[in-house]
Amino acid sequence: MLSDNSVQIIKSTVPVLEVHGVTITKRFYELMFTAHPELLHIFNHANQKQGRQQTALANVVYAAALHIDNLAAILPAVKQIAHKHRSLGVKPEHYPIVGKHLLMAIKDVLGDAATDEILGAWEEAYGIIADAFIGVEAEMYNQAEHQPGGWEDFRAFRVDRKVQESAVISSFYLVPEDGGAIADFLPGQYVSVKVEVPGDKYTHIRQYSLSDASGKPYYRISVKREDGFPDRPEGRVSNYLHGQISEGDTLYLSAPAGDFILDQNDARPVVLISGGVGLTPMISMLNTLAERHSDRKVTFIHAARNGHVHAMKQHVDELAQKHSNLSAYYCYQAPTEQDREQKAYHKEGFIDLPWLKSVIEDPNASYYFCGPVPFMQHINQSLKEWGIPEKDLHFEFFGPAASLAPA
Ligand code: HEM
Repeated sequence: MLSDNSVQIIKSTVPVLEVHGVTITKRFYELMFTAHPELLHIFNHANQKQGRQQTALANVVYAAALHIDNLAAILPAVKQIAHKHRSLGVKPEHYPIVGKHLLMAIKDVLGDAATDEILGAWEEAYGIIADAFIGVEAEMYNQAEHQPGGWEDFRAFRVDRKVQESAVISSFYLVPEDGGAIADFLPGQYVSVKVEVPGDKYTHIRQYSLSDASGKPYYRISVKREDGFPDRPEGRVSNYLHGQISEGDTLYLSAPAGDFILDQNDARPVVLISGGVGLTPMISMLNTLAERHSDRKVTFIHAARNGHVHAMKQHVDELAQKHSNLSAYYCYQAPTEQDREQKAYHKEGFIDLPWLKSVIEDPNASYYFCGPVPFMQHINQSLKEWGIPEKDLHFEFFGPAASLAPA
């Protein structure tokens, strides 16, 4: 428990730290990676370069500090992050390193304003927050290791099949090299993949949603090749997987994780909405629904630029033909002539509310959506405008959690 005095100090300094949040965390990362370059094996360098992780960590520390006298209030947020930490291999011994450099950064940025009393209160608060994370993560490690087919850290998988799904997305079917069982997972969960790209000093870890239903002898991930643009370098890992990883090669995976999952106890209709490669968790949910819950009404909506980059269309069309409870609708931003001729899509341009209303028969449903941040902001806003209660809206971000509030 924090003393009342420390709680007061924390609460009065949170706004000050929030103002300097990005500067503090940027400094924090500089200090920490200088002292502990080995942590670059765990952190995503691309996120670091884009400054995305900086804000995510700062925001959570401040939010947690504000609720320091009632950490249970932020438990769902802690759990979501803990899933990612567990999947990455973050361990209790890492917490003091983060804490030490966060405090050093606060001191550096605030200068004389950071009195010993303030730093002492934050040290105490960080310790409490870190203990909450460590406790939740310990349970998750325990569960990952002890469930049937489970394991604790990274396990070698062989690429059994590599299948091109669209001009930019390829699926990898992965089977464990030890020949053992693989743990079940929930539709919507992801795995972390650890790779060593030749010529790179540090390993890379990335999360990919599992793109098939659980219960198969393999895990399947479907990866989009991120091409480079003048303002954005090409995806180091996605290009490596696409260009250099072939059938028979080895990838290292941690056990499935994540709390963006289909509620299988809910009997109501379900609406799955995806943009681009955001379709991967939706396909896992769709396949699960098709295989196990054939009476639930399912509306699958997918937005793609055009037919070239529309992955798994044939699979979804076949499911829709086979299951009368399943309808699939596609929205193409810029259809090609061929798309037009083949009537491959149902709407041109962007998804909008009138169109959603025209294809969703019963709005009293559970909604799951995944895709680029502006896409998700738009879907979220449209569904709210329609009066869909917040509790029925479920979504997942790629990369560091961001905000759905319009920028
Ligand atoms: C991701 C918070 C401690 C390593 C994250 C995210 C948050 C966060 C908000 C983003 C989650 C998401 O993307 O969904 C915190 C807080 C901590 C803490 C509040 C302390 C109380 C640590 C420690 C390590 C660590 C001790 C290990 C040294 C990472 C890594 C990521 C991450 C590697 C993934 C993002 C990336 O690769 O850039 N953390 N974290 N975190 N955290 Fe932590």
